[in-house]
Amino acid sequence: MGEQRREVVAGAVVREGLLLVARRASPPELAGLWELPGGKAEPGEEPRAAVERELAEELAIVVVGGERVGPEVLIGERMVLRAYAAEWVSGEPVAIEHLEVAWIGSDALDDLPWVPSDRALIAALREL
Ligand code: C5P
Repeated sequence: MGEQRREVVAGAVVREGLLLVARRASPPELAGLWELPGGKAEPGEEPRAAVERELAEELAIVVVGGERVGPEVLIGERMVLRAYAAEWVSGEPVAIEHLEVAWIGSDALDDLPWVPSDRALIAALREL
């Protein structure tokens, strides 16, 4: 009984003190808002591997997935968002599926128009 929630992974990439964020193109209710890049882990996929895959697919960068960051955030009934620190290895991020990407300082965390779920991560992101 009880379906397990699908895990959505997001990568927190910090480089030279700046955090990588990406602006969603879809769906309409989230378009234009900013998120930590990521997406659904495949069934059985190790979450840090999912972070590495998603950031390669969406931003064309190579990262190594690391420690969990911040709280679990429930998304509706069926998904749970978990953020992972991700170490940048190579590539300059390109917005393949997003509207744009940006590197932001901790002073800009509060005022960024975040996707609602990701706003719960801000306090933890500040610590990175
Ligand atoms: O990116 P993708 O559409 O695969 O994400 C799946 C779901 O997870 C969407 O509902 C999206 O809004 C949510 N999500 C989120 N925060 C992220 C990444 C995804 O709320 N950083």
